Amino acid sequence: MAKKKPLVYVTRKIPTEALARLHQRCEVLLWGEELPPPREQLLRDIADADGLLCLLTDPIDETVLKAASKLRVISNMAVGYDNIDVAAATKRGIPVGNTPDVLTETSADFAFALLMAAARRLPEGERYVKAGHWRTWSPMLLMGQDIYGATLGIIGLGRIGQAVARRARGFDMRILYHGGSNAEAAAVLGAQQVDLATLLQESDFVSLHVPLTPATRGMIGAQELRLMKPTAILINTARGPVVEAMALYEALKNGEIAAAALDVTDPEPLPADHPLLQLENCLVTPHIASSSQATRARMAHMAVNNVIAGLQGEPLPYCVNPAVYPDKP
Ligand code: DGY
Repeated sequence: MAKKKPLVYVTRKIPTEALARLHQRCEVLLWGEELPPPREQLLRDIADADGLLCLLTDPIDETVLKAASKLRVISNMAVGYDNIDVAAATKRGIPVGNTPDVLTETSADFAFALLMAAARRLPEGERYVKAGHWRTWSPMLLMGQDIYGATLGIIGLGRIGQAVARRARGFDMRILYHGGSNAEAAAVLGAQQVDLATLLQESDFVSLHVPLTPATRGMIGAQELRLMKPTAILINTARGPVVEAMALYEALKNGEIAAAALDVTDPEPLPADHPLLQLENCLVTPHIASSSQATRARMAHMAVNNVIAGLQGEPLPYCVNPAVYPDKP
């Protein structure tokens, strides 16, 4: 009798080729809707699953894990995994996988695109033209901030922070950083380590590249925003709750800083009537920094590789809780 294939619950449609590979090896229960599975649905669907391929929009907590008595692997199709209670998974011996590296350059491209768009006021310019306001060349029309030669403050000089710094070098920027320190990489990049207050006070652009943890939640609030220059621009491609949304709103409205460009928000998605969306100087995109066709395909393949390895009892190629493998060096 043929061996029964393991069942993998996939919480959304993922790029086709990777999904096809999963179908070849496993029974797949796919939640095919546009929005994430509602909580009750997730709890029902996970009950018989041997593996879970989930997204950053799926909270995988103690209750979900309790409902998933057969679960042997969790694979998040994202580098960040703040949606997963990793400690609870580790306690149950369940490995958790993520998708680092493959999205580094694509995400850094996007962070830099946001920086440039906000600095040079691209969204405002486009809105102005499309609204039919463009009547002549004007000496002071939509004046923005220079990027070349400016000071960039990177909070979190990890993989993506370093990739942003590499782009900044091409613009002759002075680079400061705080956190995620890798002295060797910083030296190569000519990035100077400073305390948070100095970074906020001296930077023309502040770009966030920290994971969401209890220590980074709300790390940019009213007090931090007040330290920034009135001409400064804040870029967030990390996680929304790193910035206190209403403090940012006040700072932008009162001219404490010049602009913000956010690919991540709190809450996410931002409701259409949220105060931040009423501001001309706040550019918001829908969490798409890693969304190039090639990168999302690579992320999906990595997520599938993690699931398959977990189901075969092998160490995940990218595992965030190696403590589940006590025998591995
Ligand atoms: C991640 O991977 O954590 C990003 O936020 C989405 O690509």
